[in-house]
Parts: sequence; structure tokens; C-alpha cells
Amino acid sequence: MAFRGMLWQQKLLFGAFILAATATSQPDPNCNKTCGNLSIPYPFGTTEGCYLDSSFLITCNYTSAGTPTPFLRKGDLPVLNISLDGELRILSSIARDCYNESGFFVNGTYSGFSLSKFRVSYTRNKFTAIGCATYAYISGEVDDGNSEVKNYTAGCTSVCDTFDSMDNGSCSGIGCCQTSIPEGLIDFTTAVGSFKNHSKVYRFNPCDFGFVVEEKAYNFSRFDLKSLQFRETFPVVLDWAVGNDTCPDAQKNLTSYACKAAHSECYNSTNGPGYRCKCSSGFLGNPYLPDGCFDIDECSNKLDNCDNKSQICNNSPGGFYCSCSEGYEVDGSGTSCRAKVNQSKVISIALGISIGLLALVVGGSWISWVLKRRKLLKLKERFFKQNGGLMLQQKLLSHRGSVKTDKIFSAKELENATNNYDKSRVIGQGGYGTVYKGVLPDNKVVAIKKSKISDQRQIEQFINEVVVLTQINHRNVVKLLGCCLETEVPLLVYEFITNGTLSDHIHNKSLSSSLSWEIRLKIAAETAGALAYLHFSTSMPIIHRDVKTTNILLDDNYMAKVSDFGASRLVPLDQTQLTTLVQGTFGYLDPEYFHTSQLTEKSDVYSFGVVVAELLTGNEALSFNRPESDRNLAMYFVSAIKEDRLLEILDNHIVNESNIEELKEVANLAKRCLRVRGEDRPSMKEVAMELEGLTVMGKHPWGKAAIYTEETEYLLDVPAHSFNIDVGTSTTGYDSMPNQLLEPLDDGR
Ligand SMILES: *[C@@H]1O[C@H](CO)[C@@H](O)[C@H](O)[C@H]1NC(C)=O
Ligand SMILES: *[C@@H]1O[C@H](CO)[C@@H](O)[C@H](O)[C@H]1NC(C)=O
Ligand SMILES: *[C@@H]1O[C@H](CO)[C@@H](O)[C@H](O)[C@H]1NC(C)=O
Ligand SMILES: *[C@@H]1O[C@H](CO)[C@@H](O)[C@H](O)[C@H]1NC(C)=O
Ligand SMILES: *[C@@H]1O[C@H](CO)[C@@H](O)[C@H](O)[C@H]1NC(C)=O
Ligand SMILES: *[C@@H]1O[C@H](CO)[C@@H](O)[C@H](O)[C@H]1NC(C)=O
Ligand SMILES: *[C@@H]1O[C@H](CO)[C@@H](O)[C@H](O)[C@H]1NC(C)=O
Ligand SMILES: *[C@@H]1O[C@H](CO)[C@@H](O)[C@H](O)[C@H]1NC(C)=O
Ligand SMILES: *[C@@H]1O[C@H](CO)[C@@H](O)[C@H](O)[C@H]1NC(C)=O
Ligand SMILES: *[C@@H]1O[C@H](CO)[C@@H](O)[C@H](O)[C@H]1NC(C)=O
Ligand SMILES: *[C@@H]1O[C@H](CO)[C@@H](O)[C@H](O)[C@H]1NC(C)=O
Ligand SMILES: *[C@@H]1O[C@H](CO)[C@@H](O)[C@H](O)[C@H]1NC(C)=O
Repeated sequence: MAFRGMLWQQKLLFGAFILAATATSQPDPNCNKTCGNLSIPYPFGTTEGCYLDSSFLITCNYTSAGTPTPFLRKGDLPVLNISLDGELRILSSIARDCYNESGFFVNGTYSGFSLSKFRVSYTRNKFTAIGCATYAYISGEVDDGNSEVKNYTAGCTSVCDTFDSMDNGSCSGIGCCQTSIPEGLIDFTTAVGSFKNHSKVYRFNPCDFGFVVEEKAYNFSRFDLKSLQFRETFPVVLDWAVGNDTCPDAQKNLTSYACKAAHSECYNSTNGPGYRCKCSSGFLGNPYLPDGCFDIDECSNKLDNCDNKSQICNNSPGGFYCSCSEGYEVDGSGTSCRAKVNQSKVISIALGISIGLLALVVGGSWISWVLKRRKLLKLKERFFKQNGGLMLQQKLLSHRGSVKTDKIFSAKELENATNNYDKSRVIGQGGYGTVYKGVLPDNKVVAIKKSKISDQRQIEQFINEVVVLTQINHRNVVKLLGCCLETEVPLLVYEFITNGTLSDHIHNKSLSSSLSWEIRLKIAAETAGALAYLHFSTSMPIIHRDVKTTNILLDDNYMAKVSDFGASRLVPLDQTQLTTLVQGTFGYLDPEYFHTSQLTEKSDVYSFGVVVAELLTGNEALSFNRPESDRNLAMYFVSAIKEDRLLEILDNHIVNESNIEELKEVANLAKRCLRVRGEDRPSMKEVAMELEGLTVMGKHPWGKAAIYTEETEYLLDVPAHSFNIDVGTSTTGYDSMPNQLLEPLDDGR
């Protein structure tokens, strides 16, 4: 009881526990930690492996006589002192010009130095000029890390007539003047000059002086007007910081984050970019080292304010608390201890009541905490169930897919990865939901698909996609890394494909010009290969059902990656076709499937034919900018070939003398894919092999393709009404859900 009541001095630390994830940048324990008289704390060090990065290099010169001398970096700035508060004290030279007795200029020096990462402290230093008709300049460059580097010039004038007119200790313009240093100063030079020659004041002031100096380290004395000619250097304080990020940015990468110690905190540099670390309050040590911060024992160091007589000091991590010593008890106010009196009955009853109340309060809050927690768990569980978690587990088990690639992410993980679904991370958006770019803790970049709603059908599609993708391992199919079921809407995590969709590349004018025929052919061959793999090489054939250019993603090398398996179906081996709801995207939709609702692999072949036609012509699969009869690219394309107008419709970018035969060959293949009767179309395997052959043969001349002689059987009488249905919003980026869901035509045509 006494213990519990007496915690008024406890300083608990909240949120200060940033645990170091990995301690990769630990300095070598064999590093020299001193150079001469200077102790060198990490992140500074004298040799590679001992410092955090090269800006923290201290060069120790052992060659000079006596004690070794430390220099900043490889430069010539001697280091006096390094403090972990972000300050570094160096020696900087003095600028002067001197005259002889008859007033002739004799000699002079400039001073200044240049820093790369560190800044001249603007709070600790002053630019100072000494002399009796002296002007002094400082000019340099200012870099606050935000805008570009700016030039800076300032100066002051010092005048005096007689030696006695000067005040000791006050730098007021008589014999001495000072100006402040700007924030962010990275380099400077100083120069001095005189309005008069020094012949009149030579006796006590033969020279003009100018220098930057730590304010506390210099007190003006009138004797300095003469004696400074024998002094070379003054101490200057620099501000140092780690890197050029602010704390929030630095904390994103725990590998490079410098505040390694538990109980350490980050704070932004106040002079230029970068950040620094400090041990949390109540701790002491070097926050840049793992285990660098240790608890201060306030009790044994007499830093507590416990009353010696009635109280005992107790140390705790980051603080301390006082409790009553023997023979004392908590007094009524609860803030101090008083000598125990014989317990009367009343007191013990009061004590009993207060204990009871306390127990009630503690118990109550515990119960409410438990209830809250249970509610949260229930909600997560409900989402898990609602999102088909059970179905997924079951399906994954029954298919025994390569489950090891399939990771279940927690909601928190994905929240962190996307910066709480920040708008700036959105890379694709459409009717189906949103795709975010995310960065996992191991710095892997991923695409996270957040579906919009979760009605039951879409949940099934979602589960479907997970199950289908776990069956697939192909270089031209987007890899699913995992999913998250704990949130209201299910989330899918994919590898991040950097270069957008094929549709973007074909239809965006600036991109399409760099999409050469060779690249287009490669993309077609890779896509065909992926589809052939889906049809023939997986344990159960997979029909993609929504092959289109927005579902083909490209990486930086234009490697095709087929995506969006939301509509795909696994076909049990004993069946060759499935009767399903017609589903797909207009323009790509197989007319036979549309009429019969019979789904076979040949539907994908048709859609692929449209993709190839799109690659060849650069036109959209369905465009309302074309006359009505030509709206549908497939029909337009086939009828153009039939009428021997292929050359007119090919994309101008890709046609040249040497590849025309190859283009005809591919156009012919596309035409075969677009045949109305599924069984007349080639299989995806044949298509893939033919395209593969073409890419391998490269520029070899080809025999005349038989486009013009072959009879075409493409039916141009697809009911016009089927293309008058509102096609809804077109989607871009990572499409997830099919654009249209169509019920089969009820008259069974
Ligand atoms: C460490 O310091 C000693 C002298 O104190 C010196 O001889 C030695 O070369 C230093 N080692 C390194 C790696 O700088
Ligand atoms: C190092 O410290 C000793 C004793 O304090 C002093 O005599 C010596 O001048 C110092 N050396 C340097 C290089 O500061
Ligand atoms: C070390 O000090 C000696 C003598 O002062 C000097 O000649 C030499 O250039 C210095 N070396 C470095 C690396 O600064
Ligand atoms: C160096 O800095 C530390 C901490 O600020 C201080 O205790 C020490 O006296 C300083 N040493 C010199 C030589 O200025
Ligand atoms: C001062 O310097 C000038 C030029 O160098 C020289 O002619 C003159 O003799 C010097 N005067 C004295 C007093 O040294
Ligand atoms: C310096 O100034 C004095 C008077 O102000 C003058 O007599 C003298 O000639 C000047 N010396 C030079 C070198 O200009
Ligand atoms: C500058 O001239 C003065 C007076 O002649 C002389 O004492 C001093 O050594 C000279 N300084 C330099 C750096 O040449
Ligand atoms: C800053 O100064 C440098 C050298 O003194 C000069 O080359 C540069 O043009 C200046 N920049 C601006 C913006 O004035
Ligand atoms: C001025 O300062 C100097 C050296 O710091 C000292 O010798 C002198 O006595 C001081 N004079 C006055 C008037 O305070
Ligand atoms: C920030 O630091 C990185 C790595 O040290 C460097 O590549 C980059 O140029 C720096 N940016 C600025 C603005 O200094
Ligand atoms: C994180 O820091 C490490 C070490 O500096 C670096 O190798 C890695 O590229 C960084 N990751 C990111 C995403 O910046
Ligand atoms: C550091 O600066 C950033 C950006 O200005 C700010 O968001 C952040 O809160 C600052 N952090 C600290 C610890 O001051």
C-alpha cells in the first residue's frame, strides 16, 4: 500500500523505446577511442569501420612530435573536443594584415575553411574583428538543406583613437566589433583591411585582425590589439549531424538509422539537414551504440528529491520513486510520509475501505481492458471469416499449392508499409479498389491491392485469386507474396512491377514510340508463354478469363507479367469446359463464350488475339472514336486483313521494310486466334511456340505469309446490341476485378 501510494516522483518514459533492429554498423571493438588527449566517441572514428560514415573521420597524426594530434577528416582542422550533443570544437586560423612603423603594409593572412556535412554553429560563434580603423569581411556559403546553396557576406567596422578609450571585455565597436554567424554556414573566408595606415596607432595596434571564434572562448582585452599578432588560432564550434534526413525519414530504414541504443531518441538537427540521437531522459551514454544508453541511478547519485528522514529512494529504469521508510506511512495527501501512529479502529476501517475501492478500480479497469481486447480480437476474427479466411485455408490445403510463397500479413504490417495508405502511395485505382505501393520492413517494394467492397461474390473471387496464384510459379506471371484477412476489406500483396501496364505503353503517345516491334513481339511471346503455362503446365488447367493489355504489366526490361486472377478458373482435369456466368471485358470477350456461356481455354486465345491486334495497330480494343462498324478492334482488324488493308491499320512506329513479312505472319496468327469458333483457334501452346519461333529467328526473311489467300471465317454478325451495353469506367493500372459481370443471355442463344 505504502509503495503504491508513493509513486509521485516516478518519471516513466513513453514511446522512447525504439529498439534497434539490427546492429550492422557497430564499430569494431578494437578501434582507437582516443587520439592524444581527445576522446573520440562513435559515430566518430579514426579508421574505416570505426566511424559511421566518412564525414565522421578523425585523422590522427602520430608523426608530429609529442602527443598525436587529431584532425577533422583528412583536412587541416585540428580537433579540440567532440561532444555527443552534436558539437565539435576545432581550431581555426586568424586573418590579419600588418603594417610597419612608417605605415607600409608588411604582410597578411586570410582565414577560413570549408565543411561538407557539418555546419559552423550560429549559436556558439561570433565573427570578430579587432583594430583601430579596421574593416573585416566574412563571406561564405549557406546551405540549410532545403533550398539551394546561397552566398553570404557580412562584416563590421572597428575604430579607435587612443589606447585608453577602449573598454576591457566589451566588444562594442571601439577596437573590437562582432557580428553573428548565419544558420547553415558550410564554408567561409575572412579578410581584413584598414581605412588608414597604422602609423598613428602602431605603438599599440600594428595589425587588423578578423576571425570566427567561440563566443565564450574570447573576451576582448585592449592588449589584444597588439598581442593577437602572435596568436595563430581560435576555437570554433561546429554542429554535426547524421545524414541529411529528418527523424521520421531516417526511422524508415532501421538498418541505416543511427540511434541504435534502446532508450534512445532522435531529434532533428537545428543547423542544416540531418538528425542526432540522445539517450532518453533518465538514461546516459552513447545513443549511437547498441546498449549505449544506461540507466542513471538517481538514488546513489543523489539526484532524487526524496526526504532523507522519512523516505527511501528507489531507482527504476529512467527514473526513481520514493517510498516511506520503516516507521512511516503515507499521509492523507498521498505526497509525503508521516510517522506511524497507533492504528485505531477507525483508521483500519478507512484503510479497508480504500483498499476495497482500489481493488474495485483496478479490477474494473482490468476487466474493461480484457473486454476491449476480446472485442478487437473478435472483430479481427470476424473479418477473417467474412473475408473467407477459412475458405482460403481449406482451399490452400486441398490444392496443396506452393503455400510457402504465401504469407499472411498482419494489418499493422501493411499499414506501416503504405504509410497508413497515404494518398501519395496510390499507383492504380479503379472500380475494383485501389493499389498502393508499399515498402516492407526488409525494404522490399510491393504492390498492395485493397479491394473496394466485400460482397460475397467478390470475396470468392478474392479467395480464387489467392488460390490460383499460389499454384503458379512463372517468370511472366505476377508473383503473389501474401495477403491480409484481418481488415474489413481483404488485401493482396504482390511483387511490385515497376513500369506500368502494357496498355499505358501502347496508348500513351510518348511511351509507345519507344515500344519497338522487337519489344512488342517479345511481350506477345512472353504473354503467350505464360498463358500456355496456365493452360497446360499447372496441376489443374487455369483459364485466366480476363486477358487484356491493362492486365499485362511490364518491368523495366519490358518483361511481361500477367496479372489479375480475380476472374480465373481452375478447370478440373475431367472437364474440358465449364458453364459459368459470362465474365470478362468488352472488346476482349470471346463471342462464342458470350453466346454459349461455355468457358474453355480458347476464350483466353481469343482475348490474346485482341491483345496482339492491339500491339500491331496501336488501337484500343474498343473505341467509340471509330465508326460504329469498326468499334470492336477484333472485327476491324479481321475485316481489314480480309480486305487486304493490313498495311493501313498497322501502327506507323513499327513498320519498316525489313519486318513487314514478320508483321504479316503475326497478324495472320492473331487472325487465327480471333476465329469465331473456339475449336478452330490454335491452342495457346501453338501460339506460344509460333511467337517464340519468330523472336528466335529475329530478322530472318520470311516466306510470304498466306494472309491473303486463307479463307476467313470470322463472323461479322456478332449482335450489335452486345456492344451497346454501357462498358462502365475503364480501368488503369493494376486491375483487379473484371469490369463487367454479365448474366448469360436468357434465350440460350
Ligand atoms: C592506435 O593507437 C596507437 C597509439 O596509441 C597507434 O600506435 C596505432 O597505430 C593506432 N591504431 C590505429 C588503427 O590507428
Ligand atoms: C594533452 O594533455 C596534457 C596534460 O593535460 C597537456 O600537457 C598536453 O599539452 C595536451 N596535449 C595536447 C595535444 O592537447
Ligand atoms: C602530421 O604532422 C606532421 C608534423 O606536424 C606534418 O608534417 C604532417 O603533414 C602531418 N600529417 C598529416 C596527415 O596531417
Ligand atoms: C570537451 O567537452 C566536454 C563535454 O562538453 C567537456 O566536459 C570538456 O571539458 C571539454 N574539453 C575541452 C578541452 O574543452
Ligand atoms: C616599412 O616598409 C617600407 C616598405 O617595405 C620600408 O621602405 C620602410 O623602411 C619600412 N619602415 C620601417 C620603419 O621598417
Ligand atoms: C600614413 O599616414 C600618415 C598620416 O596619416 C602619412 O604621413 C604617411 O605618409 C602614411 N604612410 C603611408 C605609407 O601611406
Ligand atoms: C609580419 O610582419 C611582422 C613585422 O614585420 C613580423 O613580425 C611577422 O613575423 C610577419 N608575419 C608573417 C606571417 O610573415
Ligand atoms: C556565389 O559566390 C561564388 C564565388 O564567390 C560565385 O561564383 C557564385 O556565382 C555566387 N553565387 C551567387 C548565387 O551569387
Ligand atoms: C584589461 O584586461 C587586461 C588583460 O585581460 C588586464 O591586464 C587589465 O588590467 C584590464 N584593465 C582593466 C582596466 O580592467
Ligand atoms: C543525402 O545523402 C545521400 C547519401 O549520403 C546523398 O546521396 C544525397 O546527395 C544527399 N542529399 C543532399 C540534399 O545532400
Ligand atoms: C537502408 O539502409 C541500408 C544501409 O545504409 C541500405 O543498404 C539500404 O539500401 C537502405 N534501404 C532503403 C530503402 O533506403
Ligand atoms: C523533424 O522534422 C520533421 C520534418 O520537418 C518533423 O516532421 C518531425 O516531427 C521532426 N522531428 C523531431 C523529433 O523534431
